[in-house]
Amino acid sequence: MRIITVALQKGGTGKSTTAHAMGQGLQRQGKSVLFIDLDPQGNLTYTMRAKANKPTSFEVMTRQHTADEVIQKIDQGHLIPSSPQLSGADLVVTQTGKEYRIKEALQNLQGQYDFIIIDTPPALGTLTINALTAATEVIIPVQAETYSIQGIAQLYSTIQAVKAYCNPALTVAGMLLTRHNSRTILSRDMADTIEATARELGTRLFKSTIREGIAVKEAQARREPLFSYAPDSNPAQDYTRFVDEYLQNQREDGNNV
Ligand SMILES: Nc1ncnc2c1ncn2[C@@H]1O[C@H](COP(=O)(O)OP(=O)(O)O)[C@@H](O)[C@H]1O
Ligand SMILES: [Mg+2]
Repeated sequence: MRIITVALQKGGTGKSTTAHAMGQGLQRQGKSVLFIDLDPQGNLTYTMRAKANKPTSFEVMTRQHTADEVIQKIDQGHLIPSSPQLSGADLVVTQTGKEYRIKEALQNLQGQYDFIIIDTPPALGTLTINALTAATEVIIPVQAETYSIQGIAQLYSTIQAVKAYCNPALTVAGMLLTRHNSRTILSRDMADTIEATARELGTRLFKSTIREGIAVKEAQARREPLFSYAPDSNPAQDYTRFVDEYLQNQREDGNNV
């Protein structure tokens, strides 16, 4: 079972879009997937049409419910939804071992899914640390712009700290260039900078990049998977290629996926 955390503390870089599309893409390849929304904003929860007024990842963080009890089996797949209450997690979950809540909760699900995909908030607090501690790997969606790139170094020191204290086996599967517009020269220069940053940090920039496309926003507004709403759109094709590349990398690294 691979546990993929999608993270970068900057907002708007394509985390939720990537978590959703990647999970949907893996499902289309016949893989079983559990989505977990750890962002109090609940974008993934909204797009996946989670049922309201049910227990959420917040109750898992506070140990009021087990993971099993809060999983929603809905049309788009299996989801542990988020709650706005998660925004208080840093204040509510303060006991020793607070970094391990999600990891512990997922231990009971061993073998039930091929992949678990965790969407995280744009912050490096308790929720993201929990997601990194539970993960086998991180995917970092970056946009070709300065603030996005600045955030990478900071995320990296957090990942190093999590590896040192909580999760030595954690790897960075790679950075994914999202919302890419190859026509602008700025984007191209930035893509080169991101590639260099990835090399410096000992990881890869995925060869597949995700192009900007209006279908992403339209699908989200309609609360539908990109692949059913606009299968021929640029971003849908790009996410399909990305999932193939990801699986190929996994196999080359000797992981059984
Ligand atoms: N490939 C894309 N093309 C067009 N819009 C995109 C694309 N990827 C993401 N977006 C839009 O950009 C915004 C931020 O994306 P999102 O995935 O929510 O980022 P994050 O989760 O990192 O905050 C959203 O409005 C989303 O619809
Ligand atoms: Mg998001």
